Amino acid sequence: MKALVWHGKEDIRCDTVTDPEIQDPRDAIIKVTSCAICGSDLHLFHNFIPGMLPGDIMGHETMGEVVEVGSAVDGKLKKGDRIVVPFTIICGECDQCKRGNFSVCETTNRKRYLADKVFGHTTAGLFGYTHLTGGYPGGQAEYLRVPYADATHIKVPSGIPDEQLLFLSDIFPTGWQAAVQCDIEPTDTVAIWGCGPVGQMAIRSAILLGANQVIAIDCLPERLSMAEAGGATTINFETESVLERLKELTDGKGPEKCIDCVGMESHVMASLPDTLLDRAKQMVMAESDRPHVLREMIYVCRPGGIISVAGVYSGLSDMLPMGAFMNKGLTMRTGQTHVNRWTDDLLRRIEEGEIDPSFVITHTVPLEQGPEMYQVFRDKRDSCVKVVLKP
Ligand SMILES: NC(=O)c1ccc[n+]([C@@H]2O[C@H](COP(=O)([O-])OP(=O)(O)OC[C@H]3O[C@@H](n4cnc5c(N)ncnc54)[C@H](O)[C@@H]3O)[C@@H](O)[C@H]2O)c1
Ligand SMILES: [Zn+2]
Ligand SMILES: [Zn+2]
Repeated sequence: MKALVWHGKEDIRCDTVTDPEIQDPRDAIIKVTSCAICGSDLHLFHNFIPGMLPGDIMGHETMGEVVEVGSAVDGKLKKGDRIVVPFTIICGECDQCKRGNFSVCETTNRKRYLADKVFGHTTAGLFGYTHLTGGYPGGQAEYLRVPYADATHIKVPSGIPDEQLLFLSDIFPTGWQAAVQCDIEPTDTVAIWGCGPVGQMAIRSAILLGANQVIAIDCLPERLSMAEAGGATTINFETESVLERLKELTDGKGPEKCIDCVGMESHVMASLPDTLLDRAKQMVMAESDRPHVLREMIYVCRPGGIISVAGVYSGLSDMLPMGAFMNKGLTMRTGQTHVNRWTDDLLRRIEEGEIDPSFVITHTVPLEQGPEMYQVFRDKRDSCVKVVLKP
């Protein structure tokens, strides 16, 4: 089959690889009908997260049709079922799964010794996301083996196009969880850093959850327009002072709730000296992440407020203002998304027409064009916001 394969830094190719096969009674194989490129894939493209090996298949936003099931899956899934695959592989049985903490499932990371070392404890296995999270082949491919498939799936009805359902795999529940973690009150201002696909979903979610005011921050005009269309007031951080504008828009008090949809690869700009320092430290491997957004959020958030971090961080971040964080009594919530915790509710909202997540798609291309689209998405060329690939 064809698949997008990681060969090294900024080197992803569409290769012919061996078709996946059932390896365990709980496996299923799906024929992929649509998959997408995520901002998280860019961290791998840039080789910022350790643990990729040449030959690894990329992708964790995937849906398709079940073509084969293992003997232990029967009943839960059958040939012909249409499923969206959550990016987190879950067993459905461990302590964490029982609590709905699916992204920290204790069972599914088959290389848990690596994650134990790096993170202190293992997290769930993830599709196409380094050997730290199990080294599972991803879904930017014609076929995908879904391990623990009896639990790791979201069944979806026919009659709704892939484009409206695909993002249940990741970015829709991710934006949703980021907003839910803010405990939004009807009087709240929610400020959201990053208007990429995740930020766009967080904006819509914060509005659906009843925020009084949503303020979205980015520097790309097309993404800011999309945020505005979703109901946000926008700040362009290249031409305006984020801190001053946020104060202005909140009577000097700062937003009650702040959401990070940027993560470890915050833009590097001469006007933001801390980002230059982070970049330099990254180059000599003295720091893994560029946490400019975390610093800004901690500084500007209203005392007693909540900081919700959806953006991915990989390792060590320097110069976090713990003094401000502690003295202002802030709360931070974060995590890879517990996808299946939210998807019944979100699927219902899609079916009832409350939201159509396909608004974020700007590019739909054949899988073979994937390598080129990694560049386009990374460079935000051609007003690219979200790429869907068709195998
Ligand atoms: N927690 C999860 O489970 C989860 C799931 C999916 C994605 N993510 C993470 O969410 C983040 C965003 O993903 P995406 O797909 O939207 O990526 P993206 O790269 O398309 O979007 C990031 C956006 O942030 C903007 N940005 C950069 N620096 C900024 C700054 N200082 N202030 C404001 N905006 C800034 C960029 O211009 C860009 O539009 C990534 O870190 C990704 O890994 C997390
Ligand atoms: Zn993702
Ligand atoms: Zn589990």
